[in-house]
Amino acid sequence: MSARDKLIVALDVPSAEAGLRLAERLRGHVGMFKVGLENFTAEGPVLARFLVAVGEKVFLDLKLHDIPNTVRAAARQAAQLGASMFNVHASGGRKMMEAARAGAQEGSVGRPDGSRPLVLAVTLLTSLASEDLGEVGISGTPEEAVVRLALLARQAGLDGVVASPREVTALRRALGPGLVIVTPGIRPASAAADDQARIATPESAIRAGADYLVVGRPITEAPDPAAAADVIVAEMQKALSSSCTQVDSP
Ligand code: C5P
Repeated sequence: MSARDKLIVALDVPSAEAGLRLAERLRGHVGMFKVGLENFTAEGPVLARFLVAVGEKVFLDLKLHDIPNTVRAAARQAAQLGASMFNVHASGGRKMMEAARAGAQEGSVGRPDGSRPLVLAVTLLTSLASEDLGEVGISGTPEEAVVRLALLARQAGLDGVVASPREVTALRRALGPGLVIVTPGIRPASAAADDQARIATPESAIRAGADYLVVGRPITEAPDPAAAADVIVAEMQKALSSSCTQVDSP
């Protein structure tokens, strides 16, 4: 996969039309588009469906969390919609995650490319601080909880996790190379942090072991979104090139 394939842009806009306008400007510059709760609540699958129809990859970020039967049915729909990735909360439990995986497989029968969507687990929301964990009955440090939930996700047959830059190194160490890690909270060296507390540059997140980066505002609010995406891809490429050199050298 090229650096560009690993860049996912969050289309966090309220209308399908605004999402399409942004996507149009970014086509060919990024690998995938993320459609999340705001757009999906406003417009349903319109934006995702359109993007798939024109050959773009879609990460459906709906963070499913319900009884296994309901999640299985929703996962089936996500696969039928043509999503390349979607996610569920690991705290929904092993059976719920197994159901998500099963639904993804069922919904993939007959997909034109024979693929199935990657099913990712959200471990802990990055908005939860250490002191919030006790209130919701989670023991240990955030890092311990993240690794524990990621291991459960792997046992349930999921493909990977969504993780903040701060968690990537620990997850890679605990889970090895097989699991996909998708990382939001990315800011190019020159950009503002916005409301993201735990941020990393594109280069450092790739170096730490992230497979895909999710970037929203630094691209979508830039005067020239395509140029902003190109800068980020170049930063990612630096990390990929140097890791190839390290592997190749004796
Ligand atoms: O604009 P920004 O780059 O901060 O957008 C990041 C995207 O990743 C948003 O769509 C946000 O909902 C999502 N996200 C996140 N942190 C998580 C999970 C998802 O920022 N832990």
